Amino acid sequence: MKLNNGIEMPSVGIGTFLLSPQDAENSVKEALKMDYRLIDTANCYVNERAVGRGMKQSGVKREEIFLSTKLWPTEYENPNAVEETLERLDTDYIDLLFLHQPTKNWREGYKQLIKAYKQGKIKAIGVSNFEGRYIEEVLSEFDVKPQVIQVECHPFFPQEELRKITEKEDIKIMSWYPLGGKGMTAELLESPIVTKIAAKYGKSPAQVVLKWHTQMGFIVIPGSKNAEHIKDNIDIFDFTLSDEDMKEMEKLNKGERRYTRTEEALDGFMNWQPTYEKE
Ligand SMILES: NC(=O)c1ccc[n+]([C@@H]2O[C@H](COP(=O)([O-])OP(=O)(O)OC[C@H]3O[C@@H](n4cnc5c(N)ncnc54)[C@H](OP(=O)(O)O)[C@@H]3O)[C@@H](O)[C@H]2O)c1
Repeated sequence: MKLNNGIEMPSVGIGTFLLSPQDAENSVKEALKMDYRLIDTANCYVNERAVGRGMKQSGVKREEIFLSTKLWPTEYENPNAVEETLERLDTDYIDLLFLHQPTKNWREGYKQLIKAYKQGKIKAIGVSNFEGRYIEEVLSEFDVKPQVIQVECHPFFPQEELRKITEKEDIKIMSWYPLGGKGMTAELLESPIVTKIAAKYGKSPAQVVLKWHTQMGFIVIPGSKNAEHIKDNIDIFDFTLSDEDMKEMEKLNKGERRYTRTEEALDGFMNWQPTYEKE
């Protein structure tokens, strides 16, 4: 994928949400050995240090890895937030740094991203969960636009509204919950539409769904701590979904999120502080 600032990034990677530090370290190490080159983490996953260790242990050179992470809202006004993130990940730059949530102080956070971008500490700017009025505000209030927006996105909720803006502004969508979300994947992976297409190509249902994401132009970061799944999820470059398959997949669009985010939940995020004491 070529981003709107000319930077290139892989379209498939591994996500680390809800992975313990030990699982995150292993998954990142194994994924990099299996030729993954995109890793997604976040301060609030409390596994950034483990991700840094996994990257080192993989033996893959830092410059070959595309690393994305996210600042938590409690960090938006901390002038050292980017430096502290670099320290936790044990790296001297981040390929893509997101603001994780569009809460009260996000403008200060966005200014920090722009500053770090201009200093070369981050190579691309991202906003996560900035749907609706939030992405419009970013675009109208700042001269520097984001390269990527990370949002819930899957065949049940293919982000039709947001895509009107991202396509116009050349901002890439990075899908979270790409397989329907941890503990909730069955409805999608066992749906007759997906299993029928999977049988046709001799691929797994997860591979069909991930291929759908990339053919929709989305960047995809399925989460997994299972080596077989990790291997499967990157093995999607030997087949193409036909126009007919893509039309079939469209029938899954229910305009329905798996995660319902409320303004109260957003305010609640302000009060929770990730801590790495136990790591
Ligand atoms: N920005 C945000 O607010 C936000 C929110 C949520 C997530 N995210 C990011 O998006 C990433 C992906 O989301 P997610 O991990 O929550 O959900 P997901 O990728 O939709 O689903 C993860 C679940 O799918 C299972 N799975 C993975 N590969 C599979 C395969 N080939 N076959 C069958 N099952 C498979 C995993 O189990 P196994 O471990 O057993 O493989 C895990 O239970 C996260 O890891 C995180 O990096 C961002």
